[in-house]
Formats: sequence, structure tokens, C-alpha cells
Amino acid sequence: YSRVAEFVLLGLSSSRELQYFFLVFFNFLYIAIVLGNLLIILTVISEPTLHTPMYIMLSNLSILDVFLATYATPKMIHDFLHEHKTISFEGCMAQIFLLHVFAGGEMMLLVAMAYDRYVAICKPLHYATIMNLCKCTGLVVGSWVIGVMHSLSQLAFTVNLPFCGPNVVDSYYCDLTVVIKLACTDTYVPEVLMLLDSGLMGLTSFLLLLISYVVILVTVQHQSSTGIAKARSTLTAHITVVTLFFGPCIFIYAWPFSNFPVDKVLSVFSTVFTPILNPIIYTLRNKEVKSAMHKLKGRYLRSRLP
Ligand SMILES: *[C@@H]1O[C@H](CO)[C@@H](O)[C@H](O)[C@H]1NC(C)=O
Repeated sequence: YSRVAEFVLLGLSSSRELQYFFLVFFNFLYIAIVLGNLLIILTVISEPTLHTPMYIMLSNLSILDVFLATYATPKMIHDFLHEHKTISFEGCMAQIFLLHVFAGGEMMLLVAMAYDRYVAICKPLHYATIMNLCKCTGLVVGSWVIGVMHSLSQLAFTVNLPFCGPNVVDSYYCDLTVVIKLACTDTYVPEVLMLLDSGLMGLTSFLLLLISYVVILVTVQHQSSTGIAKARSTLTAHITVVTLFFGPCIFIYAWPFSNFPVDKVLSVFSTVFTPILNPIIYTLRNKEVKSAMHKLKGRYLRSRLP
């Protein structure tokens, strides 16, 4: 058989007017994602008091967010201007690879951050001995390694599938769940492998996060009321991000055998809305980060004075 050279993307919507609206909307959103997350990275790097595991991981989450928003969104924005949207076979495989590296890395980092909060809130006296910058580096590097290994294992059984003809992808990027169905073979086994690989990874980390939140909430019940209020507001933030990120992933990957038309709309939540939520929720509401940003601004303005 001869392998298809390119895939046709149907995009988010076929309506012309809607595409112009999306073009403007996603353009603004993408710029906001990049600037918001860069601001967080810059603030954490430049402020020595923020060189703690929690903020180091937060700024690494921002790095992942920028990548997560970049592997498909700029192409989608560019495609809004074109009637006929295509992507080469290699580009398609690259998108699948990058999606799983970044999403897998982000899941692992969210679990690492929840672990850090669990130790800080539930074992405050042992925090300094359990968590330190060295261990934090290990957790960050570990998240990337797991993301890459997960993605490689996923791609290993995808690139060699026979893609011989059907090449219409009803989405704005190459999502594995859609692409796998285009193979000219019985896709039952690849789909089960995908379910085991991606579905299990998403579900496991989601459950780990839920358990850590429950344990934290139960622990703070016995603490002072300010402790409860603080933990509640942190947890509400975490849970919002986690639900918006994992909800769509689990919905799309845990039921891979049937494709729902809402799948591509749900993907927007994981790849566009989560990356913008992180700067808003985790950081801009956070006192320490806000005061660090003020200091940064002050330093910048002073350096501009004659
Ligand atoms: C990301 O994590 C690594 C390892 O802990 C750390 O050295 C680096 O400074 C972090 N990146 C940012 C932007 O904070």
C-alpha cells in the first residue's frame, strides 16, 4: 500500500463567520497565555524568596503550559484563514508526540505539586526534610521523563499502522483517538493499547490528585480556621484546574471506541483554557507572587529613570 502523504483537518467549525470570530478570539487568548506564563517564569526566576519547591514547580508548570498551548493552537489560528486545511503525515505524528509529552508531563507535575502541598499542609514539621530543591528538581525532571516515555510508547504502535487512504481528521489537530481510526486495519488492538496507555495514565494521576485533596481537606479540619480558609482557597484553585484539564482528557481517552462530535470542543479546554487558567488561578491571586511582581515592576521602572 502507499502511505497517505497528508491529512485533511476539518477544523473547529465549518462556518465562515464563526472562523473569523475564532481567529480573533484564539489569537488574543494565545498571546495572553504566552505573556501570562512568561510573566510567572520571570517573576519566579528574579525573586529569590520564591526559590522554593512550590514556586519552582509552578514556574515549570508555566513552561509546560506555553508548550501545551503551542503545539497545535498557532496552526489552528493560521488555518482559520484557509478553506482547505491540511497537515503532513510527519507533522501529524509530531503533533501526537508533542501532545502526549506535554500533557503527560503536565499531569505528572500536577501530581508532584499536590504531593508538595500535601507534605506542607499535613506534615509541616517534616517539610524541610522531605522536600528540598534537590528533590524538587528530581520531580520536575521525572515529570518530563515520564511524559517522553509515555509519548514514545504511544507513538511506537501508531507510526507503523497502515494509513492507506482515509485521511480526514474531524478536529483542528491530529488527535490520536481520531487518527488511529483511519488506519486500514482492525484498530481494536491499537485502541485497547491506547486506552491502557493514555487512559490509565490520566485516570491514575486524576485519582492520586483527588486522594491528596481529600487527605488535605480532612487534615485541615482539625487545624485553626485561618488554616482551613487558606487550604480551601488553594484547593479550590487546584481542583478547578485539574477538573478542566483532566475532565476532557478522560472523557476523550477513556471512551476511545466511540467518537463524539464534542471531543474536539473538549480538547480546547485542555490545550487552551487550562494554560490560561494556571497564571490566573495559581498566581495572580497569590499574595507572595503579587508582591514579587510589584518589586519586579519597581526595579524595572527604576532602571529606566535617568
Ligand atoms: C524548573 O525546574 C528546574 C528543576 O527544579 C529548575 O532548576 C528551574 O529553575 C525551573 N524553571 C523555572 C523557570 O523556574
